[in-house]
Amino acid sequence: MQFQNEKESVLIIDFGSQLTKLIARRIRELGVYSEVITPRELIKYKDYHNIKGIILSGGPSTVTEKKFQTIPKKIFNKKIPILGICYGLQLISKILGGKIKPSKKRREFGRAFLIKKKKSLLIKNFLKSKISVWMSHEDAVVKLPNNFKIIASTKNSKLTIIENSKKKIYGVQFHPEVTHTDNGKQIFKNFLFLICKVKKRWNVKYQKKKLIKVIRNVVKKDKVICALSGGVDSSVVALLINKAVKKRLICIMVNNGLMRKNEFKYTYNIFKKKYKLNVKLIDSSKLFLKKLKDVSNPEKKRKIIGNLFVQIFEKESKKNKNIKYLAQGTLYPDIIESKSSTGSKTSKIKSHHNVGGLPKKMNLRIIEPLKEFFKDEVRILGSSLGLVKSINYKHPFPGPGLGIRIIGNITRERIRILQEADYIFINELIKSNLYDKIWQAYAALLPVKTVGVMGDSRTYENICLLRAVTSEDGMTADYFSFPKNFLDSISNKIINNVRGVNRVVYDITSKPPSTIELE
Ligand code: XMP
Repeated sequence: MQFQNEKESVLIIDFGSQLTKLIARRIRELGVYSEVITPRELIKYKDYHNIKGIILSGGPSTVTEKKFQTIPKKIFNKKIPILGICYGLQLISKILGGKIKPSKKRREFGRAFLIKKKKSLLIKNFLKSKISVWMSHEDAVVKLPNNFKIIASTKNSKLTIIENSKKKIYGVQFHPEVTHTDNGKQIFKNFLFLICKVKKRWNVKYQKKKLIKVIRNVVKKDKVICALSGGVDSSVVALLINKAVKKRLICIMVNNGLMRKNEFKYTYNIFKKKYKLNVKLIDSSKLFLKKLKDVSNPEKKRKIIGNLFVQIFEKESKKNKNIKYLAQGTLYPDIIESKSSTGSKTSKIKSHHNVGGLPKKMNLRIIEPLKEFFKDEVRILGSSLGLVKSINYKHPFPGPGLGIRIIGNITRERIRILQEADYIFINELIKSNLYDKIWQAYAALLPVKTVGVMGDSRTYENICLLRAVTSEDGMTADYFSFPKNFLDSISNKIINNVRGVNRVVYDITSKPPSTIELE
């Protein structure tokens, strides 16, 4: 189910940078299809007919050592425009005869100021005289490759943007893909539309029609099973497959008792009553609670919840012999993450990105209709399928649910307390028009009690922690700055309405050094 037959595509060669996903996303946002491949995959790549540009990503490797990640030199003779970013620039320079040195003097991390030296199509409307860019490099190019010119420099590194305009080969030492680079998107716009001369053709809504056709052709007369959690990804998968094969889709909703307040019922009603999907409910909340009794280790909790889910799901799928396919909401970033840039098979899709790491012996064939899309594209798909806003724009929610937000032991009473507090928090965010400004927000219960005073009596109750972060993809995050009056009122509302909480705290750490979840 790949779109290799896109009319025009931009290849991104991943040298292992955490930022490669962002490059691909920037290109897609500009309406051009892009595909991330490893240097090893590039060697095997034969058909270049639709490749209109190649971008070489950054990466942790260094061309100053004997062994380094590289690409065949013949790529530069294919008359396809090439843009190297950070390590990509250094690699272009190395292959084409320049010199690169590890240099304490020239290394740059964080903000740097770019000064224009020459005109270039690549910097049109980007760099007039001086602009702030984001750097992260230790090595620096110290001698230009043959037939290249310097377009811009910083104080520390002379060769910050270089070009061979005749051969359409460009290199930038900074990272235009990150938002810390002012107007970085313009670099991609110039590369795509002025240099590669591609057209804006990538359109998620158009892909929807293609996808439905592909699913229909693959599934034929068989049945598909799908674990529906009520998150964006599984919801879009369910609607998409339903459009393709109608009643031959069976959605399974497993209630583990660790969902947000009213969430399970709400999701069920939407999919069963509004969309009339074939939804089967399985209430296993008692079983989950029993298995989690006295378990406080977060990884143990994750394992127990994941394994139970698999067992229940497996049992269900065996009940109907005609079920041949299992639909999963794997996204493109998961696919990129699962390939290592060296081509080894060591890094697999994180188990929490699919259905709890299902065993192979299930004998079900996997279909992953969203594996070409980024989250924001999935949301476009969702709205074009008529998915309600409350689900389409819902914050991410982890598979183990409240299980990893109740720090320490999980009991029925602690689930109740957390559900109430979280419900108030989320609803207040919605009412105050803050929900959509935040990437993820939740309440958690800490494993300590503290003293309080309510009325004339002393209390000894739970601490409720609130967390709200802004983020682009969950890899890094900043805590959200609430207005003081919001914090005052939310603390008040939780204390007054949730029996069992006498203290509310707000987490003001970013990721890194913290993570988004507490466990
Ligand atoms: P962290 O805590 O690693 O979270 O900063 C990053 C994102 O991943 C989600 N997350 C999980 N999702 N199962 C999931 O399905 C998990 O075990 C899990 N742990 C973290 C987290 O909610 C955030 O969106």
